[in-house]
Amino acid sequence: MATSYAVTTPIYYVNATPHLGTAYTTVAADALARFERMDGKDVFFLTGLDEHGQKVAESAERNGMTPQEWCDQIAPKFQEAWRQLSISNDDFIRTTEPRHMRGVQAFWTDLYEKGYLYKASYEGWYCIHEETYYTESEVVDIDGEKCCPECKRPLRYNSDGEENWFFKLSEFGDKLLAYYDEHPDFVCPQTRRNEVVSFVKGGLKDLSISRTTFDWGVPLPFDEGHVTYVWIDALLNYITALGYGGNEEEMAEFNRRWPVQYHFVGKDIIRFHCVIWPAMLMAAGLPLPEKVFAHGFLLTKGEKMSKSTGNAVSPADLIAIFGLDAYRYYFLTDVPFGNDGSISMERMVQVYNADLANTWGNLCSRAFNMAVKYFGGKVPELSAEDYAAMEAKHGNPLKEVAEGIYAEYSQAFNNVAFTDVAAAASKLSQRANAYIEEMAPWNLAKDESLGTDLAFVIYNTLEAIRLLACYYAPFMPNTSETAFESIGLSGVTEIVNLEDVSAWGLLPAGNPVTKCAPLFPRLNVADLGLE
Ligand code: MSP
Repeated sequence: MATSYAVTTPIYYVNATPHLGTAYTTVAADALARFERMDGKDVFFLTGLDEHGQKVAESAERNGMTPQEWCDQIAPKFQEAWRQLSISNDDFIRTTEPRHMRGVQAFWTDLYEKGYLYKASYEGWYCIHEETYYTESEVVDIDGEKCCPECKRPLRYNSDGEENWFFKLSEFGDKLLAYYDEHPDFVCPQTRRNEVVSFVKGGLKDLSISRTTFDWGVPLPFDEGHVTYVWIDALLNYITALGYGGNEEEMAEFNRRWPVQYHFVGKDIIRFHCVIWPAMLMAAGLPLPEKVFAHGFLLTKGEKMSKSTGNAVSPADLIAIFGLDAYRYYFLTDVPFGNDGSISMERMVQVYNADLANTWGNLCSRAFNMAVKYFGGKVPELSAEDYAAMEAKHGNPLKEVAEGIYAEYSQAFNNVAFTDVAAAASKLSQRANAYIEEMAPWNLAKDESLGTDLAFVIYNTLEAIRLLACYYAPFMPNTSETAFESIGLSGVTEIVNLEDVSAWGLLPAGNPVTKCAPLFPRLNVADLGLE
């Protein structure tokens, strides 16, 4: 049986529709999930929505809806956005679903019985927006007002001694530090790991896990007046979606899938994922996820893009200009995954033209046109002897480049270094374009005695295209399929043995070759009417 491989995105708040930031995490997880499927793993790719909490209840009220109605009309917008981005998630969890709520309750019952929870009254600075308490030393002073260190909004001092349930997080500091030590890759990249370690070394306080001031959440099973703190509720999605808290069959599935290989998160939410979440799992006696990878922020003109700062562009706007696959390619490759980086329309046009229009797209147009023109729309046939003779005469640079790619490419995927993944594949598309120039098939076609030479060159070019369609498929599934179809193949994303299909020479001779519309028509910044 294929190895289970699970990757998750954060579950997104329903107070905003999908924007470039949330799409970023989701596309990255999708590319990895697609690669692992093609590489033979039994993949489970999970995303979903974080639907509880005071903010959601307030948004619903402002819009004259019940919180459930509010969530129910936002959820399809996310699902539609992910469909438009060709996101191949296997499940979509919503925290208002019964399967999630029962799992959260099962989890609290377990921790309660194990003695990790206690009730106490609480005083402190509270941010309604982040739904989080902050200590005196964490709050920031803005114009004499105590403000939230995260969102910079004014804080409220909660002095009425609200009774809350607490999780004994403070007991887990040493265990967490020992764990980070023994599992150096648990938090990636290293800079985030260092941040997490120094945070834990600074000492952990117990964590308030319930609220009584509103009721839009999962009630604690042993104290119904309390609902679960929204962040803790949200983290549990990673296990409830796999079947935790369900019947025997669901628990068997959970045990098969858990722990997951990757949680993909933004760097803003690492404390939750790398400190609180592992401590909760330790308390429950569950294994920890293999890796939490924290990516950086996308910045436009130096500022984080988000709904609240008003500089969010919708993915749909960019897809309308660049096309879906180019959108995915740009976001995966321009900023090395894990770093912060600036994105801009100008840069997007540059990358689009250089890597896609002039390289991969151009290669396809030229090769398909020549196969149609010189070989009547068929992959040229050469006997093994002729092929060997041509190799001896001309060398076979494309084959040489192609043979090193799988190892480099899969290693880059293992490191979730998407920029390197694309660079590994692009070596072949650049080399193939240069090969066409060097071999000048249009000259070979003028001399009938060079028919075998011409067949050799066109076969090699089409074979490079087959391989490139495979390698680009996790990033650009739709254009890869089009390229595949143009050489008489189909099902590029259904491959389950990428290493085997990456062997040179598998394109069947005689396969039909058809021209297709340019995969990436050239774009001009000036024509786009941009600033
Ligand atoms: N609901 C919580 C997550 C709970 S997971 C158990 C949440 N939701 S969110 O809707 O705010 O989405 C957060 C994700 O989007 C984070 O991973 C965050 O880093 C990412 N991004 C939001 N804006 C971003 C950028 N401008 N750039 C990159 N990613 C950013 O937090």
